[in-house]
Amino acid sequence: MKLTVNGAAVEVEATGDTPLLWVLRDHLDMTGTRFGCGMAQCGACTVHLDGLPIRSCVTPLSEVAGRRITTIEGLARDDVLHPVQQAWIDHSVPQCGYCQSGQIMSAVALLTFVPSPTDDHIDRAMSANICRCGTYPRIKAAIKDAAARINGAMGSVDQPAPGGRDE
Ligand code: FES
Ligand code: FES
Repeated sequence: MKLTVNGAAVEVEATGDTPLLWVLRDHLDMTGTRFGCGMAQCGACTVHLDGLPIRSCVTPLSEVAGRRITTIEGLARDDVLHPVQQAWIDHSVPQCGYCQSGQIMSAVALLTFVPSPTDDHIDRAMSANICRCGTYPRIKAAIKDAAARINGAMGSVDQPAPGGRDE
């Protein structure tokens, strides 16, 4: 099956009912996307499909063929981290780190559609991403910081944020 992952065309040998998460990790060696619950309950496996966050553990390959898949490995450009990734580092967000790629992918999607999110926007957008380490306050601070950086780079808070840069 032919896929587009992080802007690159790839071909994998897998049946249409294979979860995208399995393909990313086991076929393409993109292990930044994590397996948590396998039931669309935790958000650890979040990637973007045509710019929207999805749970790759319950998304079959047949649904993603011919569409744009973006993973955590696809956010940086030319060794420059995405502003959300940089904010995560600057705020020392991760503790064990297991949930964080999913958290970042959800945050990037949020800022793509809501460039200057309120606390309520953040709470709603991130509520399905579970962190057993309780890093939620740092996640919120990093999202606000990333929003300010993106809006500053765009020259106006009213401009749409770039979000995932392939979007
Ligand atoms: S592993 Fe997909 S939502 Fe938990
Ligand atoms: S940082 Fe440990 S589960 Fe989120």
